[in-house]
Order: sequence, then C-alpha cells, then structure tokens
Amino acid sequence: MKELFQETLRQVEKIINENPDDLLLRICSLLKEKIYHYDWVGFYTLKQGELVLGPYVGKPTEHTRIKVGKGICGQVAEKGKTMVVQDVTTEDNYIACSLEIRSEIVVPVLKDGKFLAELDIDSHSPAPFSPDDIQFLENVCIILTPKIIQSLSDKSS
Ligand code: SME
Repeated sequence: MKELFQETLRQVEKIINENPDDLLLRICSLLKEKIYHYDWVGFYTLKQGELVLGPYVGKPTEHTRIKVGKGICGQVAEKGKTMVVQDVTTEDNYIACSLEIRSEIVVPVLKDGKFLAELDIDSHSPAPFSPDDIQFLENVCIILTPKIIQSLSDKSS
C-alpha cells in the first residue's frame, strides 16, 4: 500500500509540474482512480467565511456551501487539523451526503498555519483509513498549497 501512495504522490507532482488549467480536478480524478477506498474526492475553499465546493469527482452533492464548524468539513476549517472518521454513524456533527458513505477523511490546506482550503474524501468502505492515508494526503495538500493560493487569488481578481 505504501508503494501505491508513493507512486501516486509522484503522479500528483507530475500533474503539478504540467500545470494544467483543470489541475485540482485532475488531482481528484487521479486519487479516486488509484486508491480503491476513495469514492468521493473534492476540494472546499474558504471564501468570505464559508466553505465553498470546488472541483470534485464522485456523486454530485447538494452541500456546495458549508458553514465553519458544521459537519466534518466545517470542523476541519475551524481547527485546521486533519480529521479521520472511520465510521460516520458515530459522529454527531456530520453532514450526510449519501447513505453509501461509511467513512471520511478531511485534510486542511494551510498557509503559515492559516486555513485556506481542504481536501475531502468519502469512502464506501468501513474504517479504511490508515496512518499512510493521512501522511499521503497531508503531503498532497502541502505540495498543492502554492497552486491553491494561486487559484484563490485568480478567482478574486
Ligand atoms: N460529510 C461532509 C459534508 C461534505 S460531503 O462529504 C461531500 C461533512 O460532514 O462535513
């Protein structure tokens, strides 16, 4: 499994170097394609104090805007720390997207400790996330940070 994460991280780097217009969407597709237990992969960015859904792959969701503090996504925006929920039925502050979702991991994108955006992954598998997932996804977010800053400033100009 570790090797798969390492190989996928190299592919993420390759896409970043190619710098396509649909960079974040390409990253979402790659992660969903390569890692079996990633069933919905998307980015939310913080805009005017609210999380706004960006590029994603997987079933369409009605949760295109989420308040800070609400759900797993909102808690990560508030605390700036990765959250792993191995069984979503045990989490009170959770926003259900579909009944198939059993578990979720949300990783923040931070700049100098300030929350900018997050990578949200939903899984149909129960308890699929290992410390390797956390390390891998935190690395993905770190190497994407300059691109996310760029995309946020492009859109606000
Ligand atoms: N389950 C999330 C909501 C977003 S969807 O997973 C796409 C949450 O509790 O914040």
